[in-house]
Amino acid sequence: MLRLAVLISGQGSNLQALIDASQDSAWGACIVGVLSNRAQAFGLERARQAGLATAVIAARDYADRDAYDRQLIAQIDAWQVDLVVLAGFMRILGQDFVAHYAGRLLNIHPSLLPRHKGLDTHARALAANDRQHGCSVHWVTAELDAGPLIAQAVFEVQADDDVDTLTAKVHHLEHRLYPWVIQQIATARRRQENPYALPFHRYRLSADGHLEPG
Ligand code: GAR
Repeated sequence: MLRLAVLISGQGSNLQALIDASQDSAWGACIVGVLSNRAQAFGLERARQAGLATAVIAARDYADRDAYDRQLIAQIDAWQVDLVVLAGFMRILGQDFVAHYAGRLLNIHPSLLPRHKGLDTHARALAANDRQHGCSVHWVTAELDAGPLIAQAVFEVQADDDVDTLTAKVHHLEHRLYPWVIQQIATARRRQENPYALPFHRYRLSADGHLEPG
């Protein structure tokens, strides 16, 4: 079993998708801890409901980013994880943190990277009149939202889409794409293949709500 730490800041709907996936042992991964930088993040409640270990590490309790990141590392390493999964963790991680987990640090981002790195991706996709929108899963490197892509899921933007509908559509895809990617990584590890060398996949949503190549 691939041991996961999941880092969140808010609702934790992606965390929930991973919790749901982990109910099936064939998924190949288990969540050993959920860490939030915000004590009031609803995702912590989801974690507790699922009986998972949780930790809250708030930045304001630390003198600077390095001290904060060191505390994150101490907690995550205590859980002895194979993969650190960022699922709506809304803090930029320092270079030392990223280096410590090189090749073991995954992020999901609500845009078709390299388009719309950073925040407010749905509003920016609308403002740019993007014909397609979606989400990306990538390895995290020192440069924000620029690490190697593993998979994307895409849909056509409709004339009546707004920020709310795009948010919902992206979430719908994210909840399918993230568990799928983690399963690929678990499978690669089991076969003693290098997960970092997984080929890039691009998906769209089929009429019956599943991911299909496209
Ligand atoms: C997700 O859409 C995720 O892609 C995004 O935050 C949301 C978290 O939702 N992440 C980022 O914007 C990271 N830059 P959730 O808390 O319901 O999973």
